[in-house]
Parts: sequence; C-alpha cells; structure tokens
Amino acid sequence: MNPTKNDIPKSAREKVAALLNARLADTADLAYQAKQAHWNVKGPHFEELHELFDEVYTGVQGYADEIAERAVQLGGQVHGTVRAAAKNSSLPEYPLNITGGLDHAEALSDVLAAYGKRIRKDIDKADAWGDPGTADLLTEISQGIDKFLWMVEAHLQDDKKK
Ligand SMILES: [Fe+2]
Repeated sequence: MNPTKNDIPKSAREKVAALLNARLADTADLAYQAKQAHWNVKGPHFEELHELFDEVYTGVQGYADEIAERAVQLGGQVHGTVRAAAKNSSLPEYPLNITGGLDHAEALSDVLAAYGKRIRKDIDKADAWGDPGTADLLTEISQGIDKFLWMVEAHLQDDKKK
C-alpha cells in the first residue's frame, strides 16, 4: 500500500483496494467483450446493435477508470494492463465466433448480468468495511450496468416475440 492521509483504516483500505483490483480486471474484460460484439455483429439490427455495443464499451471503460482511481486514492497499486485483466478476470469468456445480433445480445447480456451481480455484492462489502465512498461509486456503476443490461435485453426480447 502507498502512504495516504486518508483516515479509513489501512486494513479496510487494503481489502477495498484488493476488491477494486479484482473488479478492475472484470471491468476491462467486459469493456473489450462489448467491443468484440461491436466489431463482429451482423444482421438486420446491425446499426442499432453496433452503436449500442459501442455505448456499453464507452460506459464500461469509464467505470474502469473510476474503479482504478478509487483504488489508488486509497493507497492501492492497480494492475491495469490488458494482460493483468486477462489473467485475473472472473467473468465468463465471450464466444469469439458468433456474428448474429441475437447471439451477441444474448452473450453480452449474460456477461453484463454476471458483472452486475459481482458489483452488487461488492457494494455490501465496501459498506461493511466502513468505506461508503466506494460503496457509492459501485452503486452508481451498478445502476449504469442495469441500464445497459436493460438496453441489450430489450433487443433480445423484441426478437423473441416475433
Ligand atoms: Fe467502432
């Protein structure tokens, strides 16, 4: 841990920084899973999905930045490289060979849901460890992820009714 005058006890800051590092790996992984969808999607809803997946990428990259900077503010050292993310991500692997819009909406909604579940658990942990600032940041991220999940699933559900 790096020195800081932040008065959250060091033991709590260590736990939160480790948590944020784990989530940073997931967040970086999720961002490029959205790009994978953005780049490869094809089909009748190409334009909407191509744009939506890029919107998810941009939003999630912003979350990665906020998560990493929060960890550093607490005295942590982040592992922010793509290799570290690949090694440490807890998310399921994104299928590399799919192209259809429905398949991408299904795959990206799966990973958004998995990520959202992890973030929700972390909100409770940060609160229990006496760091409401991190809990607040994670709450904001959780709300954003719920919104992206809704937007991706809406495409899926519309197609399923036909
Ligand atoms: Fe693009």
